[in-house]
Amino acid sequence: MNEMSLPRPNNLDSFWMPYSDNRYFKQNPRMLARAEGMSYYTPEGREVLDGTAGLWCCNAGHGRREITEAIQKQAALMDFAPTFQLGHPIAFEAAARVAEMTPAGLDKVFFTNSGSESADTALKIALAYQRARGQSQRVRLIGRERGYHGVGFGGMSVGGIGGNRKQFGAMLPYVDHLPHTHDLKRNAFTKGQPEHGTELADRLEDLVTLHGDTIAAVMVEPVAGSTGVLVPPTGYLQRLREICDRHGILLIFDEVITGFGRIGADFGAERLGVTPDIMTMAKGLTNAAVPMGAVATSNEIFDTVVNSSPAGIELFHGYTYSGHPLAAAAAIATLGLHREEDLPGRARAMEPYWEEATHSLRSAPGVMDIRNFGLIAGIELTPREGKPGARAMDVFRKCFDDGVLIRVTGDIVALSPPLIVEKPHVDRIIGTLSDAIHAIA
Ligand SMILES: Cc1ncc(COP(=O)(O)O)c(C=O)c1O
Repeated sequence: MNEMSLPRPNNLDSFWMPYSDNRYFKQNPRMLARAEGMSYYTPEGREVLDGTAGLWCCNAGHGRREITEAIQKQAALMDFAPTFQLGHPIAFEAAARVAEMTPAGLDKVFFTNSGSESADTALKIALAYQRARGQSQRVRLIGRERGYHGVGFGGMSVGGIGGNRKQFGAMLPYVDHLPHTHDLKRNAFTKGQPEHGTELADRLEDLVTLHGDTIAAVMVEPVAGSTGVLVPPTGYLQRLREICDRHGILLIFDEVITGFGRIGADFGAERLGVTPDIMTMAKGLTNAAVPMGAVATSNEIFDTVVNSSPAGIELFHGYTYSGHPLAAAAAIATLGLHREEDLPGRARAMEPYWEEATHSLRSAPGVMDIRNFGLIAGIELTPREGKPGARAMDVFRKCFDDGVLIRVTGDIVALSPPLIVEKPHVDRIIGTLSDAIHAIA
């Protein structure tokens, strides 16, 4: 493609950029204009290797022809049709394809447009289910410190990242949190799942003692991503599952990041050997080519909610774009690629190399911890005195200037390349990051 034909913005004023330092960016813009395979290209045509799959989402790599063509074909056939009291075949087909992939028993699929909508939808379904089965006192939702479940009021309240909450007042009532599982003293530089911290799941028993039978659901990420990659201690999720079962509490896995091959299996549930009652997803579902999220639930949850309702609408929830035809087309094409190219298998095969490469940064200056699982890694840097996040942000900017896209959250570098990554890409990502960490004090 002729680089001159790429769009060049000439006015940066109007776009209020999300989760951004708008003032810095508009003085020092970093633009991406094209993407293909493992790389982005700036409007000037400079290549930037993608170490983050966009934002944990382009698992099959960028610009996949199969997905583009499916979207184009569907746009020409039918741009939009509602799914309130109407249907279109492609939405049903997409749901069936998702249900084939989710763990056995999680066979009902509700479509949303994002991870945030999926989180709020999952919480609402949990509340509706508890009410439908005669447990209307179960109104309490339990999250975990440092959890990220998007930016809707439900996900933000159940989420446990202080910075995401402090501007917005009181949050949802009846929410409590488990402790996070980050334990640098005992688990620093663990490869894969840490050994210590299984007992932190027992804090759910304490919350049951405190709140009695008023807890509807617990929501956690199988591997916490946005907070800076926290891998669950061995046996921790199993213990949460047991406690939920003992007390009639639903277990929700937020698989927005961990779904679709990211940790070397279709879902985190499969890799970690624990099946939740409800699972959220988004991002990799469509390779991010069209926004789409989904919530998978057990048949029991669906049947209970639907059958407890008088004739008519059973769940008063949904989005104009639930099951949007273009998103459904993108999802079907993406899930096809996922199977044909065995993206989870590729991630699993690359994992040992990825693990060794990321842990090679251990001796770099100021590296406090490195953690990895599947094709995810978190590299935690010592913060600068009185300036949390500044060091990692400088590392991010230098990597970008040197041609590699990384992601930072606080002083933690979070890496998650597309699952089509090859060893030379891994070497370049880690080499560029190493140079940046060495260059920036
Ligand atoms: C686990 C998890 N849940 C929810 C979300 C929110 O997704 P979205 O930004 O699509 O609303 C994210 C985004 O990173 C996430 O990592």
